Order: sequence, then structure tokens, then C-alpha cells
Amino acid sequence: MASPDAYLRQDWQMVCGVPMVCAFSFDWDRIDNFQSRPDDIVISTYPKSGTTWMSEIVDMILNDSNPDKCKRDAIFNKVPMLEFAAPGRMTSGTEQLAQMPSPRMVKTHLPVNLLPKSFWEKGCKMIYVARNAKDVAVSFYHFDLMNKLHPEPGPWDNYLKKFMAGRMAFGSWYDHVKSWWDKRNDHPMLYLFYEDMKEDPKREIKKVIHFLRKDLAESVVDKIVYNTSFEQMKDNPATNYRMAPSAVMDHSISPFMRKGIAGDWKNHFTVAQNETFDEDYKRKMADTTLLFRMEI
Ligand code: A3P
Repeated sequence: MASPDAYLRQDWQMVCGVPMVCAFSFDWDRIDNFQSRPDDIVISTYPKSGTTWMSEIVDMILNDSNPDKCKRDAIFNKVPMLEFAAPGRMTSGTEQLAQMPSPRMVKTHLPVNLLPKSFWEKGCKMIYVARNAKDVAVSFYHFDLMNKLHPEPGPWDNYLKKFMAGRMAFGSWYDHVKSWWDKRNDHPMLYLFYEDMKEDPKREIKKVIHFLRKDLAESVVDKIVYNTSFEQMKDNPATNYRMAPSAVMDHSISPFMRKGIAGDWKNHFTVAQNETFDEDYKRKMADTTLLFRMEI
């Protein structure tokens, strides 16, 4: 078993052509051979796109927004991340999931081609949340500053170039959002956008309720909207990641619940960076019908 020194602040390891968090890359057979259950609910995203937000929404829907039930444990235990591993320090995602009763909520950042076949074969429900690339890059940069499972991000200008080149954990944002988008018509999948959730959380939460075939009273829906607001989740120890080991996440550098807005990229991109990014973006997104709003 690897010691934490072997994977904290280490460079990505390639897994099937995709840069992977070093700590997660050990024993990849555990992912390839993972057995899903037909009632698993998969919450898939490119990192920093609203995974935690959607995870809490789904947990609240399954538990009728009961606050005691929803505060039963930290979000990373309620909704284990399939590929997560921190050998010698924390239980892996596959071990956590093996012990969970159904229906399980399964978080993943894996691109389409790395998701275990079993999820496709069993027709598991999947909720994908996409967020505009510029805000993802900014959020990911701050996350890399505080999350020691990732390499140090280095200067922002160089980081942005790496983002555009797909030299990030889980690979290219462009390939991720496009390939999940292409899958949405031949699989039970709800594809949502962070910006839409910010604009009208109740409307988007209702889509999730409908997709999960639940029937909840309007008052329960209102409670879910309230309890999953950024302000509430930031103060909630079960959702703000303060329960994660400090040796892995250092909130004093940048909190996990950072800003929670659409359009923060404007505070970080220079005019020149924005022009270069837009030109490259146009090329990379020319072959898709997928459209993003960079602000609301
Ligand atoms: P910022 O860094 O831009 O603030 P993920 O859960 O996929 O890692 O995404 C984290 C991002 O989602 C962070 O973005 C975080 O602040 C934001 N976020 C988390 N909960 C949220 C909520 N309830 N409402 C809006 N944004 C939220």
C-alpha cells in the first residue's frame, strides 16, 4: 500500500490516456471491474461544476428534505466518489460503496470512456452537471491550491494554458462536457447546467425530482431550495468539506465553498487571456450543439 508521501502533491498519472489524480491511480482494476446496481444514481461532473451542490440536492430529495437525516454524515460519505482513494489515510470510494444500502448515490468525475461498463449495461440513472469553462478553470485553480491530492497549480497564467490543453485531473473539460452530452440521448440521463441552477434553483431541482420519479409537496421543494443554497451549504459541516482531513484539504488557503457564483472568471482573466481563451474555445466547441452561458 502506498504511503501518503507517495501521492500528496504528486503529478498526475496517466490512466488510459487521461491524467488522473495520483492517489486515485493505484489498482485501476477496482474501477474497471466495479459492479453497479440497477438503482444506483450516478452524479457525474467535470470537477468544480457543482457536484457537491447536486449531491446534497439528490440526498435531500431521497430523504424528503429531513434535516436530521441529511446531516447524518459528511457529503463525501453520503455520496462516495467512485474513483476516490487515499491509500493509508481514507477508505476508498469502491470500499465505501460496497457497504452502502441501495439506492446508492455515486459521485464521479470520470470521462465517459473511463466510467465502468456496468453503469451503462445496467441502465443506471445519471445526472450530469456542466459549468462554463472559465468559471471551472478559476474554481479548479483555487481547489488545487488547497487540495494536496493535486499538484501545486503554479502561476495562474500557466495554469490556464494547462486547462486549455487538458493537462488537468480528469483530462480535457471540452472533451468531458461534449462526450457526456453525446450520451444523453441513448441513456437515462439528465444533463443540467450550473448557471441554470444559479438562475432558478427551484426550476432545476424540480427537473431532478421528476427525473427521479419522486412526488414531493411544494413545501418540501421549498425546503430543499433553502437548505441547498450556497449560504446554507457553506455553514453546514456536513457539506462544506471541513470534515475532510486537514492534511488533505487546507481551507485556510482557500475554502472549498469559495464564492458559488456565475461569472467570477471576470475577476481573474486578463483581457489578453480572455481573447486567447475565446479563440481556442470556438475551435474546440465547433463540433457540438452544447451551449454555455459564461454569466447570468
Ligand atoms: P467556486 O469555487 O466557484 O466557489 P464541486 O462540488 O464540483 O467541487 O464544485 C465546487 C464549486 O461549486 C465551488 O465553486 C463551490 O463554491 C460551488 N458550490 C458548492 N455548493 C454550492 C451551492 N449550494 N450553490 C452554488 N455553488 C455551490
